[in-house]
Amino acid sequence: QANEKESMYLVSEFAQKYFHNTLLTTDEGRAIGYSYFKERGFSGDTINKFGLGYSPEQWDAFTKEALGKGYKLEYLEKTGLTISGENRQTDRFRGRVMFPIQSMSGRVLGFGGRILGNDKKAAKYLNSPESDIYHKSKVLYGIYHAKQAIAKKDNCYLVEGYTDVIQLHQAGIENVVASSGTALTPDQIRLINRLTKNITVLFDGDAAGLRAAIRGIDLILEEGMNVKVCTFPEGEDPDSFAKKSSYDALVAYLEGEAKDFIQFKASLLMDEAKNDPVKKAGLIRDMVTSISKIPDRIQREIYIQECARIMDISEQVLASTLAQLVQKDI
Ligand code: CTP
Ligand code: MN
Ligand code: MN
Ligand code: MN
Ligand code: MN
Repeated sequence: QANEKESMYLVSEFAQKYFHNTLLTTDEGRAIGYSYFKERGFSGDTINKFGLGYSPEQWDAFTKEALGKGYKLEYLEKTGLTISGENRQTDRFRGRVMFPIQSMSGRVLGFGGRILGNDKKAAKYLNSPESDIYHKSKVLYGIYHAKQAIAKKDNCYLVEGYTDVIQLHQAGIENVVASSGTALTPDQIRLINRLTKNITVLFDGDAAGLRAAIRGIDLILEEGMNVKVCTFPEGEDPDSFAKKSSYDALVAYLEGEAKDFIQFKASLLMDEAKNDPVKKAGLIRDMVTSISKIPDRIQREIYIQECARIMDISEQVLASTLAQLVQKDI
């Protein structure tokens, strides 16, 4: 069993090197993959640091190479790198730029592969399947490169995508990880909790990003951690925003826009709920529900005070609403 996992790690490591070398040294890789990354603004150093790669536009180029080097088909299949059909094997990743996904200790667990254009018909990202070495709900993209900075800054920026992590990292903000490919999970939050108690959520400036941020807040609070939210202008994500900002402007934005979750929730519906008592009541209940997730009683109390002040409602009403939600404490 341990040997089997080790074999899967080894074949994944081989794949990472293969895709990386293909990106750097083949005509196809350079013309298509490398220039794609360059267009996105990634430097050579960044490409090397994150081990980015390219999978050739052929049916089985990688699988053939791996088998030729003595890697067993069994492990190529178990990592999902090779898909076996009736009478032939094909590569899972073909004609995509490759993002290796690493564990906290730097081992390659799997890959995300992006198509090159913006063809709306094809799935933009194809990811490695869940496997004995790749448990998606327990992995955060970028954690290996971010862990030191997270501990040092005592804060972790949480983004949605691979390119958000990479672009921010290149811009000099290294305490950043992504939940990539899955909705945020408690296990992912606990991974961060080992390094810091503070998370700043930076989700995309679109409806999906907003929904993900709102869902993320309660999960983070349940782990007893502090959560701030920084939103981006409509249509921007941390990658696109960082790409067109100077370092100073980026830092100023991240620090200026980050709101604690109460202020974030208040600002969300303030415009539409301000003069509508029913909507305002719904929003307040929603805020108290988030507060009820916080394990620490004193912290809950402090947030209730803040909520009362911001929403201009009595603390007593909020406290009794909270009490209904936190029955275990009464
Ligand atoms: N994702 C995925 N499969 C998809 C779309 C998205 O796994 N078909 C994951 C990827 O990890 C992606 C993240 O969700 O990085 C965020 O999605 P999105 O915002 O759509 O992509 P970006 O990261 O912004 O990618 P890009 O800038 O390359 O378009
Ligand atoms: Mn397992
Ligand atoms: Mn998005
Ligand atoms: Mn995005
Ligand atoms: Mn993007």
